[in-house]
Amino acid sequence: MSSSRPFTSSLYLLTFTLLLQNVLGVDPLYSSCSGNENSTVNYGSYRTSLNVLMGSFYHLAPANNKGFAVGSLGQDNQDRPYGLVLCRGDVSSSDCRACVANATRELRKRCPNSKVGIIFYDNCLLKYSNKHFFGQIDNGSNLYLYNVQNVSNPVVFNQKTEELLSRLANKASYNSTKKYYAAGEMDLEGSKKLYGMAQCTRDLSSVDCKKCLDGAIGKLQSFAHGKRGGRVLGGSCMVRYEIYPFVRA
Ligand SMILES: *[C@@H]1O[C@H](CO)[C@@H](O)[C@H](O)[C@H]1NC(C)=O
Ligand SMILES: *[C@@H]1O[C@H](CO)[C@@H](O)[C@H](O)[C@H]1NC(C)=O
Ligand SMILES: *[C@@H]1O[C@H](CO)[C@@H](O)[C@H](O)[C@H]1NC(C)=O
Ligand SMILES: *[C@@H]1O[C@H](CO)[C@@H](O)[C@H](O)[C@H]1NC(C)=O
Ligand SMILES: *[C@@H]1O[C@H](CO)[C@@H](O)[C@H](O)[C@H]1NC(C)=O
Repeated sequence: MSSSRPFTSSLYLLTFTLLLQNVLGVDPLYSSCSGNENSTVNYGSYRTSLNVLMGSFYHLAPANNKGFAVGSLGQDNQDRPYGLVLCRGDVSSSDCRACVANATRELRKRCPNSKVGIIFYDNCLLKYSNKHFFGQIDNGSNLYLYNVQNVSNPVVFNQKTEELLSRLANKASYNSTKKYYAAGEMDLEGSKKLYGMAQCTRDLSSVDCKKCLDGAIGKLQSFAHGKRGGRVLGGSCMVRYEIYPFVRA
């Protein structure tokens, strides 16, 4: 069906644009809201708690340079928001703070009456829900991105990306100095290199971190097969590979 081609390539372009924006790191990559409430009666106290919780993340997440916070707030007999924020393992605490500030502001703006929301930036992830979700793998809001450019030897290249990312998944889950974060590189033919990163939210157990990353890597292997770059941004974990260095020193 020739008519499907232009549609497909515009989707690719959209993906590519997202990857480009990414370099600047300013715009959110993705956000989503659900559980919309139309009544201030149902939403009012939730909103109040949510605003306080979001405000506290700005101080909590970057403060001790750990780049992670979870929290919940509110009265027992009412809906209470559960929130989580995670900065990418390689960002400074000031970049983390800036990202969390933007993420909280933007998510409140985009989801003014939602009980559930999530937003991804290049530097951080923020989500909240009225359901307790800590410690559970969330791959319901996974975002898959890839570079439209193909590599010349996809079979070998894919083996390499899988090898590197699996190593990083192991390291992030079981053996990282910075909890649940690992980055690394691998030599390709010639003087080329492959760069990768893996990270989980710190509410997960090591076993679940590994599960989440393995699931993401598996997906990446199929949708980004033979692509020069690819990433999965998830509510519980993220992986990425590129043929240029993207991790900050
Ligand atoms: C935060 O948002 C503002 C306005 O959209 C933008 O100018 C700024 O670069 C953003 N900062 C970060 C760290 O994303
Ligand atoms: C909001 O609630 C009112 C009254 O309950 C209802 O009439 C209206 O259709 C609702 N609007 C939406 C967008 O759900
Ligand atoms: C990459 O390869 C796919 C499948 O072989 C092809 O459809 C696509 O047009 C290629 N993309 C570029 C940018 O060359
Ligand atoms: C953890 O990393 C160290 C140093 O990189 C290595 O020697 C050790 O074998 C690793 N342990 C596990 C359980 O992978
Ligand atoms: C989603 O989570 C499950 C664990 O419950 C994991 O085994 C699976 O691989 C994940 N799927 C994706 C697509 O990441």
